[in-house]
Amino acid sequence: MPDKTALITGVTGQDGSYLAELLLEKGYRVHGVVRRASVFTTQRIEHLYRDPHSGDVRLRLHYGDLLDAICLRRLLNEVRPTEIYNLAAQSHVRTSFDEPIHTAEVVAIGTLNLLEAARDYRDETGINVRFYQASSSEMYGKVIETPQTERTPFYPRSPYACAKVHAFWQTVNYREAYDLFACNGILFNHESPRRGETFVTRKVTRAAARIRFGLQDALYLGNLDARRDWGYAGDFVEAMWRMLQQRRPDDYVIATGQTHSVRELLDEAFGIVGLDWSKHVRIDPQYFRPTEVDLLLGDASKARSQLGWTPAVAFKQLVRMMMDADLNLARQERTLFDAGYREGNIRTAPVEQIALPRRSSAEALTAVT
Ligand code: NAP
Ligand code: GDD
Repeated sequence: MPDKTALITGVTGQDGSYLAELLLEKGYRVHGVVRRASVFTTQRIEHLYRDPHSGDVRLRLHYGDLLDAICLRRLLNEVRPTEIYNLAAQSHVRTSFDEPIHTAEVVAIGTLNLLEAARDYRDETGINVRFYQASSSEMYGKVIETPQTERTPFYPRSPYACAKVHAFWQTVNYREAYDLFACNGILFNHESPRRGETFVTRKVTRAAARIRFGLQDALYLGNLDARRDWGYAGDFVEAMWRMLQQRRPDDYVIATGQTHSVRELLDEAFGIVGLDWSKHVRIDPQYFRPTEVDLLLGDASKARSQLGWTPAVAFKQLVRMMMDADLNLARQERTLFDAGYREGNIRTAPVEQIALPRRSSAEALTAVT
């Protein structure tokens, strides 16, 4: 195996964790960029992490931030990657309406910071580094045609999507202007048990499981008619890697070619636990977006023919996988609750005196996204 070294920004996120897993399996040395926070943010990669003092460790973490261009340059020189995967982002579309400037800084300018650093690193070291940009189907927005392909024009509908369009074209421009090996993966929605709790799939599977275990009663949602092409994150990171193994850099749509509404997601998830979602779901207008993306459906023919990539997990299997994981978590939460454990030990009343446990901090966040 040639000496392959990858740098992943956003390694603590859903995709970063699956990609790190995949690259370690392939024998890579993996360096992950982690933002400093006041609490641990490495839960998703805990199973991969080994103490650097314990010999030949192939996953190393470094503090860094896409907004700190100098730190990015220093990291590249230190780590000397052969491949860079830029997955870091403020990735929540609804939140981008509340934090448009921060979102644009991280997603657009942050990507530019990393592209600049990569170009200079390549020129100074002679290492022909390859660059992956996490582009998004959200860029199609108010879709011009269905299904969406690499040739479909963009019509972004959120600050997040506008910033991703900027990053997309910067990536293309670095390829054309400086001959950087830079690829855009235009990925449609992809989910997993590691999906953040405020994205709709995870919000639904987590709530269905918790309702089943009597840990909550209601689920507040926004637009139930939105349709998404939902795939499995574990499949999608394989496509990222394949893009960087090609002879020439290019841009690819990665999608399942199936679309489902939020309603269908509810049918599937609540159906697994034998519940009627209409008895639990309430509509809360705060979850509607000022401008919505009604329908996404991708055509990944190019990825199929050029990368040999096809998704292995379909929608129903995906929901089942997420439900199984969330049922496990809810079962554990219920067991702890029944044993008298209260988060922060704030509530001490026996279970029969309180109808439902207090909302966790994660749920409190769910309430505003
Ligand atoms: P995610 O779970 O939200 O993870 C985002 C990652 O970015 C986290 O590790 C986060 O760190 C990090 N990050 C945020 N701001 C940063 C900054 N200023 N500097 C460095 N790191 C920063 O997202 P994901 O679902 O894994 O998605 C990965 C990438 O693919 C994102 O760029 C997303 O926009 C894009 N994408 C996702 C999908 C999808 O359906 N999942 C589809 C298309 C494109 P913390 O842990 O500290 O927050
Ligand atoms: N999050 C959320 N919460 N979405 C809801 C809710 C809710 O309570 N109720 C309805 N929805 C609808 C949203 O309006 C949207 O139409 C759809 O569910 C999916 O929302 P999200 O799961 O938040 O994902 P997204 O499609 O906006 O964005 C994700 O996919 C993009 C790729 O198309 C993110 O992962 C982006 O980072 C990614 O680029």
